[in-house]
Amino acid sequence: MIYTTLLFSVENNICQIIINRPDKLNALNKDVFTELDHAIDEVNKDANIKSAFITGAGPKAFVAGADITEFGGLTTEQAMELSRRGQNVFFKIENSAKPIIAAVNGFALGGGCELAMACHFRLCSENAKFGQPEVNLGLIPGYGGTQRLTQLIGKGKSMELQMTAGLIDANEALKLGLVNYVTAPDQLIDKTKEILTLINTKAPIAIAKIIECINTAVVSDSAYTNGKSGFEKEIEAFGHCFGTDDMKEGTAAFLEKRKAIFQGK
Ligand code: COA
Repeated sequence: MIYTTLLFSVENNICQIIINRPDKLNALNKDVFTELDHAIDEVNKDANIKSAFITGAGPKAFVAGADITEFGGLTTEQAMELSRRGQNVFFKIENSAKPIIAAVNGFALGGGCELAMACHFRLCSENAKFGQPEVNLGLIPGYGGTQRLTQLIGKGKSMELQMTAGLIDANEALKLGLVNYVTAPDQLIDKTKEILTLINTKAPIAIAKIIECINTAVVSDSAYTNGKSGFEKEIEAFGHCFGTDDMKEGTAAFLEKRKAIFQGK
């Protein structure tokens, strides 16, 4: 696929996905969703890619929300369809077997905050601002924000932020656990790559199982949990790892006091 709204590149087994509509502060329109959907499939299919991160083009915004120009005149049914489509793309990110993290380089508002929250975890630069300001438009978040913000920062703070349309800065986001690290703007991508480089040295099947089990603890949609509890899923995944070459290599390397080399098998 030739991307028109994304920049997609791979270096050192790390895929960089840049939402590239800087004139519109990288707002998520239909094309971005179509391309993002495809890009996540590509991340999971390409054996050369071990992990990925998503960031925004330009110095100002990660993503300033869903593209509000596409909201005009939608019926209730069409709006539900838009919400379902957005949720499904974000579920695909959340359930990717390969790590996908967000490098938030500025405004992450509305759908932008929801996109960041669908990623496995988040880093941001000092100039980042997060919020769900939909209530200003007479709306609520529609791409999972009511659920994921509550999971990440707790019910009380999630209620307040969504009711007031308040924005929080990078340090507040760090304090609330919405992001794991805050960096200077020019350090954000380096720090992101540093973390992914470390993760890329670990056993890929075990990483995929960690994602699956942790998601079972927080994803409420039974389509993604097969109705099993997170504890039950963990038992199965733990057993599954014992059948892999990587587990044999990892335990052997420990006992032989050497560094493990994982093949993803
Ligand atoms: N959808 C569509 N276009 C958007 C957008 C969005 N969510 N956010 C920004 N843009 C566009 C603006 O319309 C403007 O386009 P123009 O130059 O053609 O007029 C351009 O991006 C630059 O934005 P602007 O508002 O001029 O920048 P600013 O620095 O004054 O303000 C924000 C930045 C983020 C505070 C402001 O753009 C904003 O409030 N955006 C909407 C946030 C929002 O409500 N998101 C939730 C949507 S559900």
